[in-house]
Amino acid sequence: MKISIIGTGYVGSVTGICFAEMGHQIFFVDIDQTKLNAINSGKSPVFEPGLDDLLVKNRNKVSTTTDISEAVHQTDLTMICVGTPQKTDGSSDLRFIIDAAHAIGKALIKDRKYHTVIVKSTVLPGTTNNVVQPILEEESGKEATVNFGIGSNPEFLKEGSAVQDFFHTDRIVIGVNDPKTKKTLDDLYEPFRAPIFATDIKTAEMIKYVSNAFLATKISFANEIGNLCKMNGIDTYEVFRGVGMDSRINPHFFRSGIGFGGSCFPKDIQALISFAESQGIETRILKAVIKTNDDQPQKLITLLKRHINIKGRKIGILGLSFKPDTDDIRESRAIPVVLSLLEEGAQILAYDPMAMPEFVKIFPQISYAKSSKEVLETDALMIITEWNEFFDLDYREKIVIDGRKVNKAEREARIYEGICW
Ligand code: UDX
Repeated sequence: MKISIIGTGYVGSVTGICFAEMGHQIFFVDIDQTKLNAINSGKSPVFEPGLDDLLVKNRNKVSTTTDISEAVHQTDLTMICVGTPQKTDGSSDLRFIIDAAHAIGKALIKDRKYHTVIVKSTVLPGTTNNVVQPILEEESGKEATVNFGIGSNPEFLKEGSAVQDFFHTDRIVIGVNDPKTKKTLDDLYEPFRAPIFATDIKTAEMIKYVSNAFLATKISFANEIGNLCKMNGIDTYEVFRGVGMDSRINPHFFRSGIGFGGSCFPKDIQALISFAESQGIETRILKAVIKTNDDQPQKLITLLKRHINIKGRKIGILGLSFKPDTDDIRESRAIPVVLSLLEEGAQILAYDPMAMPEFVKIFPQISYAKSSKEVLETDALMIITEWNEFFDLDYREKIVIDGRKVNKAEREARIYEGICW
């Protein structure tokens, strides 16, 4: 199949490059020529393990352009993968989706075949039908499901394991209103050995939000229980191992700790709260998920204060990314921790294998180490992200306040406090 991918951010890059690996011809579109230049030189615009290798391997199946109409005319299927950033009131900013829809709509005027437009960006229920479709129809003068197809196909990729997730997904969700679009997506996903769950478009859009909201709820629940376990000398990880053996519950996403960050959970839950409240629906659970998550980093500071007077002391921070194997610091728990430490008058020496170039942009005033070992030479250590290399450090004689359960630190440190254990 020939596929246009609009937007070469996280979702677009992974999706396009992985579809190229599946044998499809990909046309990447972006307004940012530097991202397209990166693709042309065999480098993915986003860091994701294994992605550059796949891009290099499939270079002959990948083209780039800044012109949406050029891509649409050469392809059968267009996937909108642009960002939906968060507005100050928590709702999603649809600017990029709207711009893309206008350009695709214009391109559809001259398109003779039944082109299919799929929204892959995370959008609230109703957006594809009520925002994207009318723009496409107005600009093209054509009718959706009669002259062109429209649908939703949310992604469930995790940063750091997105390539693996793409090829070994639990399920594929497609939202469709017409048989031709359904056939296109069924054909596209047929080689994946995963169930294809077909619904109407707004249900597919909702599934994406509810999946993220539920996973985040599991984490905040595990953190609340973890806080209680710590007070009672109970190992919360063992509790959730036992709880997760119930097949109705399952063991995943119960890793208690400093909380969730990233570009999806915090933003998507806020958007779901705004969506519900705009319709007069109370969201007590979702709000509690956010509140629990917001409170968790402060607990680490409280634990540190039990053991040292922070003012003027040198505090080592291990991990700045929102999780291991990514340079992404969006909503990283390191941000509130560093802010609090600075407020308390600490000197900070931080290390992260990948995220320091990003972190220094927002915190130029703290010091950065060349290696994780260098961070050991501080008055106390705080573990924020569970990078593999932190499991091998020598923590003997150290004070360690751990947000991620690094067992070696727990065994070795002179003073050790786990956030929930
Ligand atoms: C998430 C969803 O998992 C994915 O399906 C969706 O497409 C995008 O959002 P991602 O944000 O990449 O993926 O990372 P994920 O592995 O889900 O972790 C999110 C945050 O939760 C991280 O900060 C992580 O450290 C934290 N987390 C995760 C926990 O604190 N405990 C857990 O048990 C799992």
